[in-house]
Amino acid sequence: MNTFLSPLPAPDLAALTAALGSLATAFDIDWVEECASTNSVLLDSPPKNDGRTHVLVATRQSAGRGRRGRQWLAWPGASLTFSVLWRFAPDTPAPAGLSLAVGLALACTLEKLGVAAVTLKWPNDVLVHGAKLAGVLVEVFPERGRALTAIIGIGLNLALPADAAIPGQEGDVTDLARELGKPPTCEALLAAILSELHPVLTTYAGTGFGLLRNAWQQRNAFANLPVRISGEGSDIAGLCLGVDDEGALLVRVNEDTHRVYAGDVSLRTAP
Ligand code: BTN
Repeated sequence: MNTFLSPLPAPDLAALTAALGSLATAFDIDWVEECASTNSVLLDSPPKNDGRTHVLVATRQSAGRGRRGRQWLAWPGASLTFSVLWRFAPDTPAPAGLSLAVGLALACTLEKLGVAAVTLKWPNDVLVHGAKLAGVLVEVFPERGRALTAIIGIGLNLALPADAAIPGQEGDVTDLARELGKPPTCEALLAAILSELHPVLTTYAGTGFGLLRNAWQQRNAFANLPVRISGEGSDIAGLCLGVDDEGALLVRVNEDTHRVYAGDVSLRTAP
């Protein structure tokens, strides 16, 4: 599965910088050929805070991680995999809706690139025509007293092998090559994502998820559909009403509205 035999071209960092334009100075981007997991590397040794947003991109991950302990599998050149380290100011509220905000930034990027039928599956999947194109893994840890730092890991399928089998993946998967015909280069795609992500994260850090909520709801893959949420110790079925200002999923069960917070839950259309 994780067989890395063929050499891949080195990234064109000058093109990446040019594509970022005036935002280039806001980022410190390290692009490595291979690492175990970009999230793990940033978690294990977070770069010093120099005021920039640190990004680690890996052409190949040998032990990519997904949510709920799953693997994020890699095939050479098949996906764009990177992590962004974002430092919150001390005393900002716990970033419960952060992965939703990141999903929104990804969806907006894809729409601007011309991808049709982009929707968001709570809490963190980006779907195109109902099939998963990208996933987000947010991991948070405390630094400097009460300040939180988030590692935002993003994996986006570029061109999966025809026979790609993803264990534990519920539902269909898709990739950018299929959805766009001629996808942008990795550098152009990364620049487009970072350009969308930066203002979204700035908004999120300033005011939380509330201002982003409507835009998320417009893309909710399960809006007003019957859903089932299962997780550790919980299993509820009801109607998906959307999300609240904190990013919790709202599910109507009979006359009650349940709030489901980000965690180990899965969501699927009820039978
Ligand atoms: C999911 O859909 O379960 C989340 C997948 C997140 C994968 C990305 S790839 C870059 C970063 N490094 C990791 O090990 N995981 C995230």
